[in-house]
Amino acid sequence: MKSPKNKEYYLTLSIETSCDETSAAVLKNGREVLSNIVSTQIDIHKKFGGVVPEVASRKHVENIDIVIEEALSGAKINLKEIDHIGVTYGPGLVGALLVGISSAKAMAYALDIPLVGVNHIEGHICANYIEDKNLKPPFLCLVVSGGHTHLVHVKDYGIYDILGQTRDDAVGEAFDKVARALGLSYPGGPVIDMLSKKGNKAAIHFPRIYLDEGSLDFSFSGLKSSVLNYLNSQRQKELPIKVEDVAASFQEAVIKVLVDKTIKAAKQTKVDTIVLAGGVAANSGLREALLQETKKEKFHFKYPSLKLCTDNAAMIGCAAFYNYQQGKISDLYLNAVPNLKLGK
Ligand code: KG4
Ligand code: ZN
Repeated sequence: MKSPKNKEYYLTLSIETSCDETSAAVLKNGREVLSNIVSTQIDIHKKFGGVVPEVASRKHVENIDIVIEEALSGAKINLKEIDHIGVTYGPGLVGALLVGISSAKAMAYALDIPLVGVNHIEGHICANYIEDKNLKPPFLCLVVSGGHTHLVHVKDYGIYDILGQTRDDAVGEAFDKVARALGLSYPGGPVIDMLSKKGNKAAIHFPRIYLDEGSLDFSFSGLKSSVLNYLNSQRQKELPIKVEDVAASFQEAVIKVLVDKTIKAAKQTKVDTIVLAGGVAANSGLREALLQETKKEKFHFKYPSLKLCTDNAAMIGCAAFYNYQQGKISDLYLNAVPNLKLGK
């Protein structure tokens, strides 16, 4: 197999198709992004109020070759110069994942270069290595996306200790479901974020769910139900609903718990740096609250730029580079693992 070790630099081609973004990127030495092409299907799924798996797979098939070609031409790199291929193999929608995996396998086989399967959650964490070239483990990472809510102690490159996670809905999922109940468009997170700026976050007291004493796990389904109950009760009583206030009060309940548990986890693990990752990391209220609290508690705080928060292949390429360096290479039997967990 080609791709000798100890080269001056390595070029990674990476692919991400776990949900509703078809993306390909080219990276140099894992942290320098030469191109990062993201073709989003949001407008297509909007009509259905959420991602339709079958439609997502078909769109990935239509887009994947175009996106890869754009990533290579944008980076001014010939496919033959690529050293290894990284691809998301889970967690995600099985049909969507298989499109990226099949494409990556075909290229790795044809070019005779290593194939590196990447965990999507690890990709989100690695987005921060691209954003801040000096960031090094250990640190504590709060991963918040449409499918995941994790507090992760990143002990070293590729070494993850999960300290807490959601027991039901992911944060992004709660944003999307509450938005839907308010008659707002998909994805709900950005809309609720925007409306919250115009609302009163103390208008309605929604529950802050902390679970058992000392637990670093999360639960958002009770909060979601509480918002739905509030809306039903207002409607039954024919009382007005101020959407901005509901959005701001809901967002505040989410942020309070996320921030409190993140600070607690950082103190427990004795790290000095807190890092934010995932689609919900784009939330302006969450960023602001963590900025203030980390300043008060004297932690360094890092978060990715908006483009690196939501799904993209550059973050997968970065994770693939570190996996490759550690010899974590996949074979051509690599399959999609829809419920893949982030291990130690
Ligand atoms: O990471 P991501 O692109 O996909 C998954 O891996 O799930 O995250 C998508 C999620 C959606 O639930 C979306 O509503 C949420 O991220 N999101 C936000 C914001 N931007 C995206 N949630 C809150 N505030 C935002 N500004
Ligand atoms: Zn994601």
